[in-house]
Amino acid sequence: MPTILIKNAEIITMNEKEEVFIGDILIENDRIKAIGKEVSAQGIDKVIDARNRTVIPGFIQTHIHLCQTLFRGKADDLELMDWLKKRIWPLEAAHDEESIYYSALLGIGELIQSGTTSIVDMETVHHTDYAIQAIAESGIRALTGKVMMDKGQEVPERLQEKTSESIQQSVDLLEKWHMYDNGRIQYAFSPRFVVSCTEELLREVGHLSSHYNVNVHTHASENRGEIAIVEHETGMRNIAYLEHIGLANERLILAHCIWLDENEKRIIKEKGVKVSHCPGSNMKLASGIAEIPHLLEQNISVSLGADGAPCNNNLDMFNEMRLAALIQKSVHGPTSMDARTVFKMATIGGAKAMGMAHEIGSIEVGKKADLAILNLQDFHSFPSYGVDPISRIVYSASKSDVETTIINGRVVMENRIIKTMDKHTVLQEANIAIGRLSKRITTLI
Ligand code: GUN
Ligand code: FE
Repeated sequence: MPTILIKNAEIITMNEKEEVFIGDILIENDRIKAIGKEVSAQGIDKVIDARNRTVIPGFIQTHIHLCQTLFRGKADDLELMDWLKKRIWPLEAAHDEESIYYSALLGIGELIQSGTTSIVDMETVHHTDYAIQAIAESGIRALTGKVMMDKGQEVPERLQEKTSESIQQSVDLLEKWHMYDNGRIQYAFSPRFVVSCTEELLREVGHLSSHYNVNVHTHASENRGEIAIVEHETGMRNIAYLEHIGLANERLILAHCIWLDENEKRIIKEKGVKVSHCPGSNMKLASGIAEIPHLLEQNISVSLGADGAPCNNNLDMFNEMRLAALIQKSVHGPTSMDARTVFKMATIGGAKAMGMAHEIGSIEVGKKADLAILNLQDFHSFPSYGVDPISRIVYSASKSDVETTIINGRVVMENRIIKTMDKHTVLQEANIAIGRLSKRITTLI
């Protein structure tokens, strides 16, 4: 991999001291080799002149469904259980190998273009190999896994799995892909949510997660109807049940966590469970507003994710950061969620959730080179004089300000051109694929 020198950038490090200064970053292979006011080195292959540019740690989104990107705009204005049963499950059931591949590339293209360098991704029941192939080719960093669903009502036949098969297929994918490309891709067991999974499956996932030392990624306490189903079936609230069956630990990443009682918050805190907050999705699916200031007060790990394209309908971290701040202010007052807190959730907070804070999430010597270079020289983000750079990014900047994205020391986008895929082909194939899926399902969408 070439040696890259980024010169004269405003660097927002997000290191312990949260230092911001103008200087240079030297990247050698996949890592940051040096940072300073002026860095010089020999044998540099590429110099990026970043005068008047801002370099930030790449965003880390801890809840994404790449397999759903093709469904953007196909499932608007519905609540969670209807959204799943009427639209998302039939569409996921209709997926084929090629449609999964292009759905993933479409999503990754959008993520890279908007400065996201790492994701925690949940695929569907079938063809996950093809999504991971797209992840492998695109250069994005991902913790990913096939969704597991061995129970539930109104689930299309094609998504209904036998417990043992779901587990075997997950283990096969793990053994094939976990730690691929020097750890850029990692596997996470991904039971969909308690409503979709038997106790037997969830208990086995707990054992396997401990055996392989990998994460478990699931949805929990997103919607009041979902919680009512769990309570009816188990006699317990959602998080209490997850604890009861042995899943509540520091490897568990829970998307949403909107409706928690005090006991569930205690479990999350004491067991070190990670919460992925998805404000755009939570509002669009009318799920509710998560009590994030309260969770942060208790030192619970909270990070951000856009969720899937059909419940957002973008995968843009700038949008998620803005919403994360504004929704809390509207309920809890102007200081309840400031720009710095949100920016931490979007960067180092995501790294902590992935168990990778020693590798990513900040710009520091020795860490992986996962960065976004922003051009904030425009009407919408001026004036800059005397303005906190983090305020500019969270409240004024937008995805089109991302000029260059580097992941694992590789320039995956430069001057807004994605280098690891052909945009025209991906857009064209995405349309062809969703056309094919729409014909395949009987539900009128
Ligand atoms: N709960 C179970 N499955 C899903 C999903 O695909 N998206 C969201 N937002 N919530 C879920
Ligand atoms: Fe989700």
